[in-house]
Amino acid sequence: MTKVAIFVSGGGSNMVKLVESMTGDHPARPCVVLSNQPDAGGLLRARDMGVPTVAVDHKPFGKDRPAFEAALQEALAPFEPDLICLAGFMRVLTAGFVTPWEGRMLNIHPSLLPKYRGLHTHARALEAGDTEAGCTVHEVTAELDDGPVLGQARVPVAASDTPDTLAKRVLGMEHQLYPAVLRRFVEGTRDTLYLP
Ligand code: GAR
Repeated sequence: MTKVAIFVSGGGSNMVKLVESMTGDHPARPCVVLSNQPDAGGLLRARDMGVPTVAVDHKPFGKDRPAFEAALQEALAPFEPDLICLAGFMRVLTAGFVTPWEGRMLNIHPSLLPKYRGLHTHARALEAGDTEAGCTVHEVTAELDDGPVLGQARVPVAASDTPDTLAKRVLGMEHQLYPAVLRRFVEGTRDTLYLP
């Protein structure tokens, strides 16, 4: 059984979908939900679902990312995860953390990568006049929002869309895409899944 650690910074709706998916004949199970925000709503939701949680507050570490990442790794170790899923984890992880996990760490990003790495993806898509937006699940490498694409879901942009309305529709697709890609990944499939 593959043990999955899920990293969140906020509400954790993707985390909930991932946890809910890992039942029955699914070849993976959640082992911990970790957050850099001690008050993240995702931690409460994980606890409600019976998943262990850990918080490693990044603030006391200031700009010392290596020290923060060493604390993350230490907090993670007792749960012995095989795989990490970043699910709305809003701290950039450096090569020092990522490299040992390469090939065993996934992320979901709210754009059709390689478009719009980083933040404010929906506002940027609207500003550019894009007719479609979407989300991407990819393997994490030391380069931000880069790494092999494992799945993408497209969402048409409506003329009336604001960043918020678009974000809401894309999030709905994220909830379908991430569990589907996770399952395929654990089962050994690496080619790209396209939804819908
Ligand atoms: C999701 O839209 C996810 O794609 C995005 O944060 C949101 C988290 O929502 N992630 C990033 O922007 C990563 N750079 P959730 O906490 O409800 O899953």
